[in-house]
Amino acid sequence: MSSSITVHDKVFVPYIKGEELEAAIDKVAARINETHKNEKDPVILLCVLNGSIMFTSELMKRLNFPLELMTIKVASYSGTRSGGHIQEIMGITGSVLGRKVIVCEDIVDTGATMVYLDKRLRESGAAQVEICTMLLKPEVYKQNLKLDYVAMEVPNRFILGYGLDYDQLGRNLKDIYVLKDQI
Ligand code: IMP
Ligand code: MG
Repeated sequence: MSSSITVHDKVFVPYIKGEELEAAIDKVAARINETHKNEKDPVILLCVLNGSIMFTSELMKRLNFPLELMTIKVASYSGTRSGGHIQEIMGITGSVLGRKVIVCEDIVDTGATMVYLDKRLRESGAAQVEICTMLLKPEVYKQNLKLDYVAMEVPNRFILGYGLDYDQLGRNLKDIYVLKDQI
């Protein structure tokens, strides 16, 4: 894996190799396929933009039941801190009424975003809401909401790459990096 990188004013060091993450995505996809193996009607895979774009694309390649891709854009972060206040920047690209939805998230930190989305989807008439996240910070997450599928757990540090950004940069990195000062 490559060595440390600088993004804006901060130095990040390699943390999880893309291949390791993809092996974890294989496992989570197998679990989702098992749960949805008898699905007749297309399930909605809801990609939470922008961070989840790379994860969603890797995950959906591995899913083998009928599904429809939808997107929503929310923001809660500014710099390297979670704000807790959720802004819906772009609404859901279709109707979820009476449909099963799998929310596809890059990382769950405080969980404020997932709590907001779960409520939002249920209020919009979704028949079932499941949460699938690539990464979870279990030390921070204290919500009652069940996270159905978690690919990998990470410590309470600022993570970059594989879709995750630091002030919009670094999303294209194919490995996960961590903020150096936090080690
Ligand atoms: P939460 O609402 O506090 O769970 O925050 C979730 C959102 O914050 C995620 O969708 C990410 O976009 C962003 N986020 C949380 N932790 C990190 C991180 O370590 N690096 C980059 N973005 C993060
Ligand atoms: Mg996100």
